[in-house]
Amino acid sequence: MKRRDFMLGAMAGGGALVMSKTFATEKLLSFMPRPQAADSRIEILAAESIGTIAPEIYGHFTEHLGGVIYDGVWVGEDSKIPNVAGIRKSLIDALLKIKPSVIRWPGGCFADSYNWRNGIGPKNTRPRTTNFWAGASEWPKGAPNGPGKYETNQFGTDDFLRFCKLTGAQPYIAANLRSLNAKDFYEWVEYCNSPAGTTSLADLRAVKGEKDGANVRFWGIGNESWGCGGNFTPEEYAAEYRRFTAWVPGYGVNLAFVGAGPNGGDLDWTRRFFTKLNERRAIGSMWGWAMHHYSWNVSGGRTNDWREGKGDAVNYQDEEWYELLHEADRVDSMISDCWNVMGEIDRTHRVKLVVDEWGAWYKPGSEVDNTHLLGQQSTIRDAVLAGQTLDTFHRHADKVGMAAIAQLVNCLQSLFLAHEDKFVLTPTYHVFDMYSVHQGKKAIRTVFSSPRPSYTRSGQPATIRGLNGSASLDERRLVLTVTNPDPKAAHEAEIALRGATVRSAKGMRLSSTDIHAHNSFAEPNKLAPQTIDVPLLASLRGSGLLHTFPPASVTRIDLELG
Ligand code: AHR
Repeated sequence: MKRRDFMLGAMAGGGALVMSKTFATEKLLSFMPRPQAADSRIEILAAESIGTIAPEIYGHFTEHLGGVIYDGVWVGEDSKIPNVAGIRKSLIDALLKIKPSVIRWPGGCFADSYNWRNGIGPKNTRPRTTNFWAGASEWPKGAPNGPGKYETNQFGTDDFLRFCKLTGAQPYIAANLRSLNAKDFYEWVEYCNSPAGTTSLADLRAVKGEKDGANVRFWGIGNESWGCGGNFTPEEYAAEYRRFTAWVPGYGVNLAFVGAGPNGGDLDWTRRFFTKLNERRAIGSMWGWAMHHYSWNVSGGRTNDWREGKGDAVNYQDEEWYELLHEADRVDSMISDCWNVMGEIDRTHRVKLVVDEWGAWYKPGSEVDNTHLLGQQSTIRDAVLAGQTLDTFHRHADKVGMAAIAQLVNCLQSLFLAHEDKFVLTPTYHVFDMYSVHQGKKAIRTVFSSPRPSYTRSGQPATIRGLNGSASLDERRLVLTVTNPDPKAAHEAEIALRGATVRSAKGMRLSSTDIHAHNSFAEPNKLAPQTIDVPLLASLRGSGLLHTFPPASVTRIDLELG
């Protein structure tokens, strides 16, 4: 007996599941020829819960970097570009649709150079200051001395908090640990959270902001403290972290502190920091531990130098497609490895993992304007990367408490590109739109078996993971999301549901036959999700289906269970 016949037989006769007779299409479908080419299998174990998918996994990151804030988020109150209190309206509207759970601000590396006091009070009295990124080597040729280099401080704390409120996101503020004192941090918390009428700072905020306080819960204690956040050793950073987080009044808010965790898979940073913190039994002061993982092409050989080996955002060779997705997929084992090291000291896993910078990072050249430092295009390859990463977070729903893609607009893997009055949704946005339904749902275990696409890495044979994805359950509604990272081959999968029956199925897909496809101001709708038919097969007696996943695709299948 062929493996496929065996599996179909097992699925149909598995005993657990009887197909509902309410399928309108059952008769018709039973006469349809069975696909002959299933080479993959997806098992959904409906009874095996991993944990709740924290809505905060669907977080975003906005840094005062190039065109993110100025030109991206902030257009100014007097602008002709439609805005709400200076914030780009088209951005607010598009964000509302995808339910952004959290927005991180003001950096990034910028955060450890930022004095929040420069960004409050009357806008015409705010100082101009040098931006952390002013001297970056990646500035596109001819970039003027705009606000990306010389900060105008027109977008400050009140504006950020308003942006969060308008989009329904929780604010997540990164404190300056490298160049300000702990006292400045406490006062920033006071400025944000203290109710009007209590202190001078609270009254100052109430002039433009919330009277009762903005209830900012999430606070990053520095950023990349191993690098631009201070070049600390883990032990030095642990001491600073303790000083910053000891006895901070929350003004009725249960403050959630996030420590600056490792660069990718640096387990030594995590182990030494946790060990040092534990000497003073201070693990309890931490809510989350932030890991950053960027993916860049490594055409022509691997390198750990972040300035080397970056590929082009749009004009890539086949090898670069595979390499980038392979690099992105490493986040899966990084999460497990970091979690295990955290557990050596934090035995009950009180502290959650926070992946608050992730995404693709390419060399300059595809930015839509020369003021957009680190701006880049986003193609179908980035969409697959986004789906693959979000699925990974779901599969680690017991570990990952928050995440933020870097960055929201006009920078690295963005959901939006904007310049003056032009605005476009990238394929990465569409993946967030397709996937946001998973927020707050129960992640359930899935087992994917699929051939590994093969390629040549610097002349040597190599492979990447094949079909992969995740599933979540909400009462009788199950959502399966799947990426096919294979740029050349479709894969047909037998999707077997264990512990439930399917009443109906529908789906949507983002894919392209052009692996370089992307949206632009001129062609904004080249890539957008399409609805797809997801037929059920009577022969599988409601326990599963066969589905073909086209090359380079991101698919969502919604199953209504019986
Ligand atoms: O996202 C760009 C930069 O990458 C951030 O400022 C920093 O935290 C990281 O190195």
